[in-house]
Amino acid sequence: MRVGIIKGAFAPLLCSQLSEILKFRKQYSLDEIWFVFEEHTVSYENRSHMLKLMIAPYRKLKIMKGDWLYEGIDYVQLPFVNIEFDFDLHWKDVSSVVKTYMMEHGIYVEDIARSLVKPKRWLHVSSMTQLAVDLAVSHHMNAYEAFLAGMFHDCTKRLDYDESSFWMRLNASNKLDEAFAIHHQYTGEIYCRRVLKIRNQNVLHAILHHVKGDSNHPLAQIIYLADKLDPSRDYDSSKEIALAKKDLNQAMKVVKEQQIAYLRKEGVKV
Ligand SMILES: [Fe+2]
Ligand SMILES: [Fe+2]
Repeated sequence: MRVGIIKGAFAPLLCSQLSEILKFRKQYSLDEIWFVFEEHTVSYENRSHMLKLMIAPYRKLKIMKGDWLYEGIDYVQLPFVNIEFDFDLHWKDVSSVVKTYMMEHGIYVEDIARSLVKPKRWLHVSSMTQLAVDLAVSHHMNAYEAFLAGMFHDCTKRLDYDESSFWMRLNASNKLDEAFAIHHQYTGEIYCRRVLKIRNQNVLHAILHHVKGDSNHPLAQIIYLADKLDPSRDYDSSKEIALAKKDLNQAMKVVKEQQIAYLRKEGVKV
């Protein structure tokens, strides 16, 4: 038996790397290809899960753990270059199932979220996400969902009108006449679904309603409240935060009234 050995971090394995590996199989007349893991900051558990998702359709591709040297096997070491994961460079080359896995398990989520916003907005995103997580914990809700929705709630805020309208026409063309400041709740949800491959419906729903605050879903309320009460904004919101930790519905009422009063003062019709 002739076996090709690929040693790497696979954090994650890219689609283009997989097709290279499949070519090696033919080129070197290999019966099987075995993947052997090197150390990496992303846990072995997560990396092996991602690799399993990638190689599931290929029976002759296997993951080896521990001792893998057996007598009577002809080994061929195959070339492989580890990548330093970069969202802009590599995201298009990650398979959809792996993207969803990464989003569900927090793999590079913070780096990706940071690369989608300007530095000043990142301060807001990271601080409101912390508040969203705190609120979720106070209400015994899923803290990871709050984290993910917080991280990406403003992910399309940097788009100008033309870029934003492109995304709006994909799925929210009937909302184009709403104020431009609202558009990023629609485009954000579309981007998370289509590009980031987030499949968690609670997270998508919370992003979709975060500007208007017109949903009674507890996670959507948390994201709306954390966005408005973010401690990095320049006013004291400690009273409202304390209320939100006790009672989301009550806090929604108070914060929405404050918002309407604020918008009226700014001369915006509400
Ligand atoms: Fe927003
Ligand atoms: Fe925001």
